[in-house]
Amino acid sequence: MAAQYFAERPASARDPIDVDVNVRGVGFTLTTDRGVFSHGHLDAGTSLLLHTAPDPPANGVFCDVGCGAGPIAIALGLLRPTATVWAVDINERARELTTLNARRAAAGNITVVAPPEVPDDLECDLIWSNPPVRIGKAAMRDLLASWLDRLSPTGMAVLVINRHLGADSMQRWLEDRGHGCDRLASRRGFRILSVSPR
Ligand SMILES: C[S@@+](CC[C@H](N)C(=O)[O-])C[C@H]1O[C@@H](n2cnc3c(N)ncnc32)[C@H](O)[C@@H]1O
Repeated sequence: MAAQYFAERPASARDPIDVDVNVRGVGFTLTTDRGVFSHGHLDAGTSLLLHTAPDPPANGVFCDVGCGAGPIAIALGLLRPTATVWAVDINERARELTTLNARRAAAGNITVVAPPEVPDDLECDLIWSNPPVRIGKAAMRDLLASWLDRLSPTGMAVLVINRHLGADSMQRWLEDRGHGCDRLASRRGFRILSVSPR
């Protein structure tokens, strides 16, 4: 099913599997499902991001670009209950799962939307994302460019990208686009990149 995780309406039969997530002192349960990224487990790259990204600011507008079943958005929502968290995904089943999982975790500060529902003037103080590398290099760069241009002047994005799926060329592209871009961690085949506005 991995090749279909970014379908807008997955057709695969349901097979819900619950996964427990514990990060930075908060714990929650995620229902995962077929047709959505990381069925039955927490992705190793996502886990690395959750454990190594710098602490989120005390407050602000946070965005999870490509929320899947919601591990990043829900962690942010629980870690910073007074922040506003936007969880965005093209995949309808992913949005359903994030909504369900956020409700069960009592993370009431998360708004789950499809890309066309994102307000034009939304500005993000923080983006944490495991972006959809498999949509292809050009599409992924367009997606990231559109979100990075939403960063507030003091904002920051933290991205996890598989080293074998172009993390280093992505870093060079971000720098060429005028962003500050630092490698915060490199482990288990993943790079964690912090990106500042240009
Ligand atoms: C690598 S997965 C990460 C999922 C989740 N954040 C996690 O860490 O388990 C990337 C997600 O991006 C979503 N996606 C693909 N294209 C998108 C787009 N244009 N806008 C928003 N999300 C998109 C996919 O459906 C998928 O759920």
